[in-house]
Amino acid sequence: MAVAELVAKCLQAREMAYCPYSGFPVGAAILTTGGAIITGCNVENASYGLTVCAERTAIQRAVAKGYRRFTAIAVTCDIKDSFVGPCGACRQVLMEFGTEWDVYLTKPDGTYRKTSLRDLLPLAFTPAHLQKN
Ligand code: THU
Repeated sequence: MAVAELVAKCLQAREMAYCPYSGFPVGAAILTTGGAIITGCNVENASYGLTVCAERTAIQRAVAKGYRRFTAIAVTCDIKDSFVGPCGACRQVLMEFGTEWDVYLTKPDGTYRKTSLRDLLPLAFTPAHLQKN
């Protein structure tokens, strides 16, 4: 898999963002273990708290399509001068579907910084903990 493709898809997904309230578009692209790429964008709501982030839109779409095993996610927003990570809620939701994710924080120009979900969410609570009682 070319990281370039995953990055390109998250940039495309950002174009679909529905963000009339924040004006802050976000795009995400998730890579499945089989090589499929599923995208998402943020979807806001007039009842602000019902907004769904791009990363969660993407993973919910992926699960609904039957995918549960993932290896990477690329995320992007319009911020040009720094690499921006997923919000804390999204980190937790990604962790539900595996601890071994590569995460590509992508700028609008397509440059990216590679990190991992483990590094972004240390000492995470995971489904495995529910098996231990
Ligand atoms: N947002 C995301 O889509 N992902 C994140 O990780 C952080 C924030 C969206 C939610 C909202 O539509 C806008 O960015 C501003 O918070």
